[in-house]
Amino acid sequence: MGSNMNYESVMKLALERGFYFPSCEVYSDAQAGFWEYGPSGVGLKNKFLELWRRELIRRDGMLEIDGSQIMSKSVFEASGHLGNFADPIIRCTKCHSTFRADRTIAEITKIEIPESAELEEFDSAISQNNIKCPKCKGDFENTKNFNMMFRVGIGPEEEEAYLRPETCQSIFVDFPRLFKTMRGKLPLGIAQVGKSFRNEIAPRQSLLRLREFYQAEIEVFCNPAKLDEMDRFPEIQDTVIRVQTDSEPVPMTCKEAVKSGVIPNKFVAYYLGILTEFYEKTGIDITKSRFRKLGDKEKAFYAEVAFDFEVETTIGWLELVACNYRSDYDLSNHAKKSNEKFEVMDNDEKVLPHVFEISMGIDRSLYTILEHSLRDDREHDRIVLSLKPYLSPVNVGILSLVKKDGLKEKADEIFLNVKRKCDAFLDHSGAIGRRYRRLDEIGSPFAITIDHQTLEDQTVTIRKRDSMEQSRINISDLDSVISSSISFP
Ligand code: GLY
Repeated sequence: MGSNMNYESVMKLALERGFYFPSCEVYSDAQAGFWEYGPSGVGLKNKFLELWRRELIRRDGMLEIDGSQIMSKSVFEASGHLGNFADPIIRCTKCHSTFRADRTIAEITKIEIPESAELEEFDSAISQNNIKCPKCKGDFENTKNFNMMFRVGIGPEEEEAYLRPETCQSIFVDFPRLFKTMRGKLPLGIAQVGKSFRNEIAPRQSLLRLREFYQAEIEVFCNPAKLDEMDRFPEIQDTVIRVQTDSEPVPMTCKEAVKSGVIPNKFVAYYLGILTEFYEKTGIDITKSRFRKLGDKEKAFYAEVAFDFEVETTIGWLELVACNYRSDYDLSNHAKKSNEKFEVMDNDEKVLPHVFEISMGIDRSLYTILEHSLRDDREHDRIVLSLKPYLSPVNVGILSLVKKDGLKEKADEIFLNVKRKCDAFLDHSGAIGRRYRRLDEIGSPFAITIDHQTLEDQTVTIRKRDSMEQSRINISDLDSVISSSISFP
């Protein structure tokens, strides 16, 4: 099979097969940076999250919560987002268009200035390189900070509050209650899946830079004195992770990574190990992944040490997960601002826990899974989405060869039975070859065809997506054949 699929191929598939599409697309005032998932996208997302829960949340005995998307001003005063969560912007003095300073400078000069650099650094790069407005060639005003949070007004008084820019703030604010009521013990992971909101200056590339997006975040609370006392470390010590130490990612076991000092301790290595195992099971080509340690100017303002999990795609390396050691930054700031107690007992010791965060971008992960799974099978004139069977939005297509002679009714009967156990799709119309191709494009691992022989001997044809191999099986064996192939690993 050839594999010349790229961003445009994924976009075509997404639009034509119900994975995702622009929000409010029938209106001319639709805003950039908002996308919707269609039925295939929702199916894939739900299964991706089920795998995430199995591989990380349940495996590690974490707690999952579901917090508010709108949070009070105090939360973001304490978290530092009101003061620090800003992008550098430049405005043209002539046409008044605004641009992100770091991106515009990089696009024109290839000079990379981290977004958190001092504003003067952008101004001097602009003047030294004589950078003008890309739209009208006008001059730029001095660089300013633009806070990326969406402000909302609550009630008739429009009291100041914000859409959360990261899901984890409710985990920090809720920590004292959760630790107490759930009888927590350190280390304790608390997780949340949900939407976050960032007023990006230049949203782009569909799911890759959105203003409203999904995160799956895990915050692991730990005793900072015990980062090398990780009981579960042996489970992943031989798992291979790829760490960017110099110019190339180097594969090494978690044990080697800790021993050589590339990863600071067993605690962090454990989570990078289970994260890698999770992504391997999503079907992403893990040989195209790396953990990249961020430099001081690249790290978010709350991070003490940060590793991004990045995956190579046809449009470059994408950051799918930010792994941040946030120390006690959040808990101490919320403790100060709220006057509540955030210390907990770890055996006989009173500690203010430190936090290691595994912050996953769901939308980008789904894009990457799609790109890595999409194949152009020219030999058979078809596009195939070779998703892992347990992630496919449709597990099996049920097709009647023709509608007449009782085949439609027989297919309906089989569909009724199968759809209770897995995601099945019933299709009676169109040429059979075309129906197979549609199923291939949404990644259905199986197609079942009901033909005249079915009425005689209670067998159906089962066609496998990747090999296109067809065989006959008894209807009574369908359940076990399908369920054994689509069960989570
Ligand atoms: N919580 C980390 C992030 O949103 O990137």
